[in-house]
Amino acid sequence: MSGSGWKGRRVLVTGGAGFLGSNLCHALAARGARVTALDAMMPEGGANRANLEGAGVMLVRGDLRDTELLSLCQGTEVLFNMAAQTSHMGGQRDPVADLGINAVAQVRLVQVMREAAPQAVVVHASTRQFYGRPIKLPVDELHPVNPPDANGVSKWAGEQYWLLESRVLGRPVVSLRLTNCYGPRLRIADARQTFLGIWVRRLLENEPFEVWGGAQLRDLTYADDVTDAFLAAAEHAAALKGQVFNIGGSTPVSLLELAERIIAANDGKGSFVTKEFPADRAPIDIGSYHADDRAFRAATGWTPRIGLDEGLRLTLDWYRPRLADYLNL
Ligand SMILES: NC(=O)c1ccc[n+]([C@@H]2O[C@H](COP(=O)([O-])OP(=O)(O)OC[C@H]3O[C@@H](n4cnc5c(N)ncnc54)[C@H](O)[C@@H]3O)[C@@H](O)[C@H]2O)c1
Repeated sequence: MSGSGWKGRRVLVTGGAGFLGSNLCHALAARGARVTALDAMMPEGGANRANLEGAGVMLVRGDLRDTELLSLCQGTEVLFNMAAQTSHMGGQRDPVADLGINAVAQVRLVQVMREAAPQAVVVHASTRQFYGRPIKLPVDELHPVNPPDANGVSKWAGEQYWLLESRVLGRPVVSLRLTNCYGPRLRIADARQTFLGIWVRRLLENEPFEVWGGAQLRDLTYADDVTDAFLAAAEHAAALKGQVFNIGGSTPVSLLELAERIIAANDGKGSFVTKEFPADRAPIDIGSYHADDRAFRAATGWTPRIGLDEGLRLTLDWYRPRLADYLNL
């Protein structure tokens, strides 16, 4: 399916109006795929109508928990499954709703897909979150699962239901466990999607941003590299079915170094203050993380193309003319 192999293919992207889903939609449509984006436009997440502007994909507004899925899924050749409740604090506050979206609704989709598109390839968006506080770095796929919060439990469950489809029914399913992703179409109005969103906003508004803690290590993946990873996973799904892969990105940096580098990417303009980690978040913080993603690189040839400094600069440049679309939600 590489390059022109996507032309005319019927692709469904759940969560397609969100940050990562919309970037994928743009890339797929540019390759000639026939793309449907399903999204419930949840107000607390990364959904934004502006995310799909100019993409040429069909957006269906619907919730995986209750929308009629059969006709939507029929004929799907590739499902990129990006829809999720992603807030860690949100999951702690309302674990029933979190489980409803990330696990129960996933089972609903699993069942409909059995009937509507039994041969379709599925690439599932999973997370490094459920490894919990790493017992060693870098974290490979054999690291024990030890979810630090309700959202980690629900995301792990959702992934496992898809892997079962592969083990029991032989469906080509690949699950990608993502680290912190950033880039165009990220929610920047606040810190609900990631701390980096609010950093971008503050920098572009000439306000200081806050760094909580500062010593934690993170490896960030730029949006285009995430998109490439999903495309590569779909293209190799027949050979990789039933497997999970960690996806990393840049060389790990501490949050303090990241703060310095995003200011440098803003032509040296900007400032930050360091703060203690908030008491309500500290118990669910995973500390330092970086991925060992050698397995995915070896299996697919994928490698991140955008270095951290370039990615930060591209991100700031992308938002400058579009701030209003991303602040007035
Ligand atoms: N962004 C990251 O750094 C990151 C890191 C690890 C894992 N992930 C995973 O990648 C996927 C995409 O994340 P994102 O950052 O783009 O998040 P996002 O919030 O921007 O996108 C998720 C989209 O799913 C939609 N959605 C949520 N529940 C739905 C439902 N019940 N029915 C239909 N649509 C629904 C939301 O409206 C939103 O547009 C998620 O599965 C997430 O867990 C992301």
